[in-house]
Amino acid sequence: MKTVIEPFRIKMVEPIRMTTVVEREQILKKANYNLFLVPAKDVLIDLLTDSGTAAMSAAQWAGMMEGDESYAGSKSFERFEKVVKELTGYPYIIPVHQGRAAEKILFHVAIRHLGSRQPMVPNNTHFDTTRANVEYLGAKAIDFPVLEASQPALRKPFKGNMDLEKLENFLNQHAKKDVPLIMMTITNNSRGGQPVSMQNLKGVQKLAQKYKIPFFLDAARFAENAYFIQQREPKYNTKTVKEIAQEIFRLSDGCTMSAKKDGLVNMGGFLAFHSKKWAMSARSLLILTEGFPTYGGLAGRDLEAIAQGLEEVVDEDYLKYRIRTIEYIAIRLIQMGVPIVQPPGGHAIYIDAASFLKHIPRSQFPGQSLVCELYVRGGVRGVEIGSVMFGANTDMELVRLAFPRRVYTQSHVDYLLEVIEEITKNKSRLHGYKITYEEPIMRHFTAHFKPI
Ligand code: F0G
Repeated sequence: MKTVIEPFRIKMVEPIRMTTVVEREQILKKANYNLFLVPAKDVLIDLLTDSGTAAMSAAQWAGMMEGDESYAGSKSFERFEKVVKELTGYPYIIPVHQGRAAEKILFHVAIRHLGSRQPMVPNNTHFDTTRANVEYLGAKAIDFPVLEASQPALRKPFKGNMDLEKLENFLNQHAKKDVPLIMMTITNNSRGGQPVSMQNLKGVQKLAQKYKIPFFLDAARFAENAYFIQQREPKYNTKTVKEIAQEIFRLSDGCTMSAKKDGLVNMGGFLAFHSKKWAMSARSLLILTEGFPTYGGLAGRDLEAIAQGLEEVVDEDYLKYRIRTIEYIAIRLIQMGVPIVQPPGGHAIYIDAASFLKHIPRSQFPGQSLVCELYVRGGVRGVEIGSVMFGANTDMELVRLAFPRRVYTQSHVDYLLEVIEEITKNKSRLHGYKITYEEPIMRHFTAHFKPI
C-alpha cells in the first residue's frame, strides 16, 4: 500500500469549536491583529508551535498514574534515567522543566569553568532562547549555517549542517580559552527545521577533538533528525532510527533537551553530561532554581511520561507518518505555486511570505498579513517569523505552520490546503499592517497592529 496512515486510533477527543469568517474577523480585531492574543478556544487548527502540544499515548497516561512523587530517589526518576542513559550513553542525566532551563544551567557551568573574558559559542544556528541564554551571560552566540540554508527554494538533503570550514577558521582564530563549547541544533529550527547529516556531525566532533573543546547537542528534535539521516544518507538506510539516534548522541559530550518536542510530552526536558565535573556544578545550580536532582522542576508523573515518550518517538511508523504529512503539504503547496522553504523540514512548513505577497513591502509585514488571513479565512493559527519577530535582524519574511505531534488528521491537513488555496486565488486582496503598540523586547508576543 502506498497510502501512509496515522499509526494510531483515537481514544480520547477534544472538540474544536467551529467559527465563521465574520466571527473570526471580530475576534482578530479584538486581539489587535496579533495571533498570540487570540484565545485558543477560537482557533480551529492551531499550528503556532509543535512545542508542548503533542497528544500523549495511552501508555504515557498510564505512566502518569504510576508517577512516584517522592522528593528524593523516586522510582519514576530511576525509569527516566535508565531510558535516557540507554538512548544517549551519557552517564549524568539531570531533569529540568524545559529546554531553556537546561540551556541556562549549561552555559553558566561551561562559561564559569572557562574563565574567559570574551566567551563565544558557535552553533549551526542558535534557537532564540539558546542565543538569549548565551548573551545573558555576556558571551557571544555565533551561527555558522551552510550557505545553502539561506536559499529557500534550493532542494538539498541537509540544509541544517554547520559550515565546517567557517567553524575551523573561527577555532583557529580564537584561543581555546574563549570557546566554552561547540553546539549543534538538531534539527535546525531557526533555519526551517532542516536536518544535519551524520557526516557533518562527525566533522564537528573531529574539530571539537582537535581543538579540545566540548561538543554539545541541542537535541529537541533528535528523532526527526535521525529519521532524515536514515532516509537521505546512503550509509544509514539499513540502520534503525534508534541506532542512528544512539550514534548521534555518542559523538558528543552532552546535550540539552526540550522534551516538549521529541519527548512527546507537554512539559519537561533534561541536561546530560559525560563530564562528572560539569554535572556536579550543574546539579548545584539545579537545586537553586529547578529542584532536587531526582526531579529537577518536574513531577514524578512527568518523568514517567518523558521516559515513555522517548521510547515511542523513535517508532518508525510514527516518524514516517509525521514526516510524510509535512511532505504531502509541501508537494501540494508547490503545485499551487506557494513559495516554501524546500525541502520541508520535520516539524513545520515555512511559507516565504515576501515572495508570496510581492505587493506588500517588507515594511508592512507580509508575514503578518498572511497569518491574519489564514486565521480569518480558515481559523488556522500560524506564526510570523520575519520582521515582526526579529526587526532588522532578518533577511526573511516567513510564516511557520508547525505541527503538533499526533494531534491532527489527514482531513485537517486537506482542510488547511483548501484554506491556503483560497487565499492564493485572492492574494492580491491582502494588505499590509502597521504596528500601533510594541514592547522594547520580544515585541511579537504583545504588539498591536492595524491594517493599512
Ligand atoms: N531549542 C530548540 C531547537 C527549540 O526549538 C526550542 C523551543 C528550545 C530549544 C527551547 O525549548 O521551549 O522547552 O524551553 N522551541 C519552541 C518553538 C518554543 O516553538 O519552536 P523550551
